[in-house]
Amino acid sequence: MKAVQATQFGSPSVLKVVDLPDPTPGPGQIAIDVSHATVGLIDVLFRQGQFKDVPGMAQPPFVPGLEVAGTVRALGDGVTGFAIGEKVVSMSAGAGTGGYASVYIAPVQGVVSIESSHVDPALAVAMIPNAAMAHVALTLVAKLVEGESVLVHGALGGFASGFPSIARQLGASRVVGTVRSGKLEAAANTKLPYDRIVDSAELPGVLAGKRFDVIIDPVGGAVRDQSFALMKPGSRLIVAGNAAGDWTHAVKTNDLWLGSMAVTGFNAGAFLPSHPQAIRPGLEAALKAVASGLCDIPVDVLPFSEAVTAHERMESRDLNGRIVLTPQ
Ligand SMILES: NC(=O)c1ccc[n+]([C@@H]2O[C@H](COP(=O)([O-])OP(=O)(O)OC[C@H]3O[C@@H](n4cnc5c(N)ncnc54)[C@H](OP(=O)(O)O)[C@@H]3O)[C@@H](O)[C@H]2O)c1
Repeated sequence: MKAVQATQFGSPSVLKVVDLPDPTPGPGQIAIDVSHATVGLIDVLFRQGQFKDVPGMAQPPFVPGLEVAGTVRALGDGVTGFAIGEKVVSMSAGAGTGGYASVYIAPVQGVVSIESSHVDPALAVAMIPNAAMAHVALTLVAKLVEGESVLVHGALGGFASGFPSIARQLGASRVVGTVRSGKLEAAANTKLPYDRIVDSAELPGVLAGKRFDVIIDPVGGAVRDQSFALMKPGSRLIVAGNAAGDWTHAVKTNDLWLGSMAVTGFNAGAFLPSHPQAIRPGLEAALKAVASGLCDIPVDVLPFSEAVTAHERMESRDLNGRIVLTPQ
């Protein structure tokens, strides 16, 4: 198979297109002929070696990428409910690598059929895994209740984009996003179902005293600091990433006591393996959201040969929406 390999930790130039043996599915797995593989910030962090000392993390050479769209190529022992050639999307439910390849091996519990929904596979893979994670995070971690309000930082980012549609499905009363000033124009044009998107540099004043029940924060740093002034008593801040790169951020626990607020982490890579029953409802909710047009974001499709460009664009923040790679 054709694949893009991170040959060592380092700059985007370590990514090389290589030929590797075709993998075959084991019990409970599906082999997918990949048509599209997402590029996420997590792939960039893995490639840079940010997690190189964490036990179990991929070491070079490895194939980045953790979400693919394509067609079913082969079924492992015990797998039922999927047909060869069926169009599917897979979300990460394993090691978090292997996606930038023309054949991907997915655990069956992370695979959903898009055959009858007629959604574009590039948009489907750009949105279904993230919307599924949003469903898991909002239902099981934030425990969102109908009528509650939600604030999403980095509102147009890949991971964050999954939240507004799912929050709507779950009956949120109000869904507000924050972006950096450079993304205000894109925010004005987004089709994602936010009630409002504000400039994160103007927090908290721009929200004129409005507070939220749930805050989703994949950004960290300064916007995480601002979040505490935006939380109601009984509210939950979900720490879900660190796009701002502030690895030393700390929370003053006495502020949580005084404000009667909760801060909790959500990392799908840690949560889903121990809560596998959450994956299928998440995927089904996500498919419904994408098929109903609530997840319409710009998606740039680049060939594997431009993986270096894709990672350079992620690093320089030269994107609106998502980038997906295609083996063709
Ligand atoms: N919890 C989970 O299970 C999970 C799953 C996937 C990803 N993540 C994490 O979520 C984060 C985002 O990943 P992604 O794939 O969504 O990346 P992405 O598509 O590149 O989005 C990153 C978002 O963060 C914003 N941002 C970046 N640097 C910032 C800064 N210094 N200050 C304010 N905003 C900043 C970006 O805004 P601009 O567009 O203005 O640059 C963009 O909205 C990463 O930390 C990733 O590891 C977590």
